[in-house]
Amino acid sequence: MYIGIDRATELLKQGEIVSFPTETVYGLGADAWNPSAIQKVFEVKRRPADNPLIVHVASKPMIEQFAREISPDARELMNAFWPGPLTLIFPKKPGVLDLVTAGLDTVALRWPSHPVSQELIYRVAPLVAPSANLSGHPSPTIAQHVIEDFGEDFPVIDGGSTQIGLESTVLDLTTEPFTIHRPGFIDKEKIEQVLKKKVSISDERHSPESEPAKSPGTKYSHYAPSAEVRWLDPEEKPDREDTLYLLHGRELSAESGHTLHYHGDFEQLARELYDRFREADHLGLASVAVEPIQGHEGIRKALINRIQKAIG
Ligand code: TXA
Ligand code: MG
Repeated sequence: MYIGIDRATELLKQGEIVSFPTETVYGLGADAWNPSAIQKVFEVKRRPADNPLIVHVASKPMIEQFAREISPDARELMNAFWPGPLTLIFPKKPGVLDLVTAGLDTVALRWPSHPVSQELIYRVAPLVAPSANLSGHPSPTIAQHVIEDFGEDFPVIDGGSTQIGLESTVLDLTTEPFTIHRPGFIDKEKIEQVLKKKVSISDERHSPESEPAKSPGTKYSHYAPSAEVRWLDPEEKPDREDTLYLLHGRELSAESGHTLHYHGDFEQLARELYDRFREADHLGLASVAVEPIQGHEGIRKALINRIQKAIG
């Protein structure tokens, strides 16, 4: 059900949950101080309880309600990238709900740049907002995706297509060096330029199963459609009728009816990736084959990460 910002404000103040657009993907919002509202987020998404949520803020006092300590480095990053698609992990203040942080002693904060997100946060309170998809499905980048996952009656503010299309970069400021748990539009190089020091990228493949995950969400299989996602073999001709081909560099003559060319525009591919995954399912296709992406500049690292996760 498409609703306006006034109705969304009312619902959130009553402890209900609503979906709203951010610049990355659609979020599933709840008042970050209302435990029963947050409980609904976990239930509706079927999200494992050990996966913490990002608190979305829109002012300095809101940041201070959650972060116990804001280091000079954190300030530099906030000045450079907020509002925007960067989530920062801080030591949490006592009193922050355990439901939000899944019992961790850290809290994830993000100040989104989307005007609708900001307006809702001003009007209601800081909002927890995971991506508004069923756990395991691709994140929603248009309002219709939210309806697909949660049904016609679920309240969504329709803000059109999201600008970035992949979830925010998650940077942990409580580790030494700082760690990128989830790559995104704000890449490692941009972060290092601001900090004038190196940060690391967590590589889940090397962490032993028994060790508790540093960023629990990253251990779940994510972003995957029902169709099998795979990298296109360089020798392979993209001509199967049951496959959606996502190409960005190869110029090919014999093609199937389901081929999309991005001509090196990786930001466009990022914006559309999850919609293409869902489209493959609507068309009943067996697989999505993506031309391998070289390099890691800009959004490429995040794209490779999401495609790799969908491959499983
Ligand atoms: O772009 C985004 O970040 C979107 C929009 C709606 O803002 N939200 C989003 O939330 O992607 P979600 O819940 O789908 O992903 C949050 C990620 C998860 O991987 C979670 O494990 C991690 O952030 N996270 C949250 N709190 C954390 C914490 N205290 N320590 C480490 N990782 C944390
Ligand atoms: Mg998510």
